[in-house]
Amino acid sequence: MRKVKIMATGFYAPEKILTNADLEKMVETSDEWIFTRTGIKERHVASENQATSDLCIEAARRALRHGHFDIKDIDLIIVATSTPDTIFPSTACWVQHGLGADHVTAFDISAGCTGFLYGLILGESLILNGTSRRILIVGGELLTKITNWKDRNTCVLFGDAAGAAVLEESKDDSGILSHYWGADGSLASLLYLPAGGTRMPASLQTVAGDLHTIQMKGNEVFKNAVKRMGEAATEALKRAGLKKEDIDWFIPHQANTRIIDATGERLNVPKEKVYVNIQRYGNVSVASIPISLHELGEGKRLKKGNIVVMDAFGAGFTWAAVVYRW
Ligand code: ACO
Repeated sequence: MRKVKIMATGFYAPEKILTNADLEKMVETSDEWIFTRTGIKERHVASENQATSDLCIEAARRALRHGHFDIKDIDLIIVATSTPDTIFPSTACWVQHGLGADHVTAFDISAGCTGFLYGLILGESLILNGTSRRILIVGGELLTKITNWKDRNTCVLFGDAAGAAVLEESKDDSGILSHYWGADGSLASLLYLPAGGTRMPASLQTVAGDLHTIQMKGNEVFKNAVKRMGEAATEALKRAGLKKEDIDWFIPHQANTRIIDATGERLNVPKEKVYVNIQRYGNVSVASIPISLHELGEGKRLKKGNIVVMDAFGAGFTWAAVVYRW
């Protein structure tokens, strides 16, 4: 069976680091609360003059270098983000221009934290149906510019970063084995950014009301994330004809260690097979899975033939799992 493979990965996290101790000086919180409730110790924060595309461009350059590719080798750029540079054009167009790839088709997908996996699934089908030959998928997020720094319920959670991957048809038996994706728009308002779109255009009132920042019912997101990520991984494994015991690496979206632990337990994955790096980045949304893939690959912990399950949940709500043979 024809398969699509990740040929290279790369990521970029801005240089500036904001620790839990720094947050203690900004809102009524503590390192102890943040770490025990979320697993986060520190997060990277973009500078004032950086936009999401700047993070994506650097991550993309690193992925291209990692795979010894030239930008001319790429025939499609997909950017997954919920924090675009501009409402239009797409962030992918800014990225395309920044990479000097003005010949290449480029578009965004918006699927919250699930965006990178949506991109992987879409990219797979575009390669298999002959539309594209080699795709650059970038998940980039600059959440700290849409964070309400007075709201301790949300401001301790997020960070900025971008991760990228190059996809093409596999020449061996490694690659995507199966996937499962879903969405439920009836729960959209549990995690959203109310203002700045056509529903609630920007006004003095929306700015005064902090309506251009993330609004979230944390415990509802938590419950739905555990349920949907468990379902998605179980269904994707079934579609690949594999069992939970076959998992060598479980790479969940890094939203909260308690979500990761609960999902891992549902899937009976031993803790040592669950990749966790949230302590160093916080929740970087679409960037978390490509960063994890890159770190695992560079650390030589991913071995040829390993069964990897990537699993994500995010605003929408959206969810997806991809089963991959490394
Ligand atoms: N520091 C100290 N206390 C805090 C803080 C803080 N930063 N934030 C909230 N609290 C307080 C609350 O005010 C509340 O106090 P009260 O009992 O006096 O009212 C108490 O802590 C408990 O608050 P809860 O919201 O019930 O805490 P919970 O255990 O649910 O943890 C959290 C909150 C961390 C947000 C959790 O619900 C969560 O991680 N949810 C998932 C959200 C998420 O990851 N969203 C990201 C986008 S989607 C995705 O990536 C999957």
